[in-house]
Amino acid sequence: MIIGIPKETFPGERRVAIIPAAVPSFTKAGLEVYVELGAGDSAGFPDSAYQKEGAHIVPSHTEVFKNADVILQVRAVGANPEAGRFDIELMRQDQIIIGFLDPLTFPESVKEISEKGVTAFALELIPRISRAQSMDALSSMASIAGYKAVLLAAERLPKIFPMLMTAAGTIAPARVFVVGAGVAGLQAIATSRRLGAVVEGYDVRPAVKQEVESLGAKFIELPIDVTGSQDTGGYAKALGEEFYRRQREMMSHVVSRSDAVITTAAVPGKKAPILISGEMVSGMMPGSVIVDLAAERGGNCELVHPDEIIEEKGVTILGPVNLPSTVPYHASQLYSKNISTFLLNLIKQGRMNINLDDVIIRDTLIVQNGKIVHPRSLEIYKEGVAAPHINK
Ligand code: NAI
Repeated sequence: MIIGIPKETFPGERRVAIIPAAVPSFTKAGLEVYVELGAGDSAGFPDSAYQKEGAHIVPSHTEVFKNADVILQVRAVGANPEAGRFDIELMRQDQIIIGFLDPLTFPESVKEISEKGVTAFALELIPRISRAQSMDALSSMASIAGYKAVLLAAERLPKIFPMLMTAAGTIAPARVFVVGAGVAGLQAIATSRRLGAVVEGYDVRPAVKQEVESLGAKFIELPIDVTGSQDTGGYAKALGEEFYRRQREMMSHVVSRSDAVITTAAVPGKKAPILISGEMVSGMMPGSVIVDLAAERGGNCELVHPDEIIEEKGVTILGPVNLPSTVPYHASQLYSKNISTFLLNLIKQGRMNINLDDVIIRDTLIVQNGKIVHPRSLEIYKEGVAAPHINK
């Protein structure tokens, strides 16, 4: 069986699905690896490094699709809606596509690939269960985004993060407020603490208080009833506009005293809740910074625009949408581990074994031999109502 690694084609994307160090795990499993010429260049992995590990370099995107039985990508069709269309033309019957597919946002692309007779797995749908942790690419990428969001805030802020006691006087540490303490939020808290800031965090799930505190941050308790804020899988549930209005009201004093606010609040499958209003931005000190990681899903800040820098009354609002790609070496390293573990879980004695009793396989399988088999994707396609975009 041949595994193909095409060069990513999403505009500005610098990651690669598989790094050279992962190649031996495939060859040991009896698979051959074909990598498109230059696929790893922008992430810092030259062709020679892949060859050294036993991969074959093929000259073009077309050649990868022509030869490979399984295609591994970071942003496959749905997650690469324009340039990815070219891939649909190259797909052939019985080929297997694995990557971020965004099937709930772009149901038409699911339909189109199904018409090619392929089988496709969407990595963003990996369940957050212990056995799947090493395959959880969304979490890996969110962790990197949380780290990078803090660096962006530090770069923009006209202050330094740590306290400094010098002969010229004492500098007070910066104050950082992180809203949403899931994967990205906890990493943002940890990074801000490492840089010496005084950090506060808030989440609607009271269960994360301990985690926030264990990272050296203060958990903000708001006097609002959060009963029912968490589903049985441990995720946040959508709480209704009245709840969010009260939350904004109660958080405004924390926001106004913060130098940097990093927002990461997300509810699976829903548009991001608006937690920082324009009025709250006006109440912040000039020079303060907001980094809104949910920009692509509508944003947690009312004034954010995806991938733009907004200045409002001296406050800078950033809405970067592809932070993992700004750290392509390590983002690719983590992604490569996630996708290769996922693939190896699908293979038995060198052959593809799609075992639908395995929840990881069942939850991520979107199209099987040309048939859309994922109930939610099928429903969304039929309804014609796409869910909000999910960040990779
Ligand atoms: P996650 O699901 O692990 O965490 C989200 C957290 O938000 C949860 O802990 C949840 O309880 C909390 N939350 C929900 N509603 C809230 C509210 N009203 N107030 C406070 N907290 C609330 O998600 P993850 O993986 O950490 O991702 C966070 C966000 O970052 C998502 O929007 C994701 O799409 C985005 N992201 C952005 C990237 C970028 O480059 N811009 C890259 C990766 C992720």
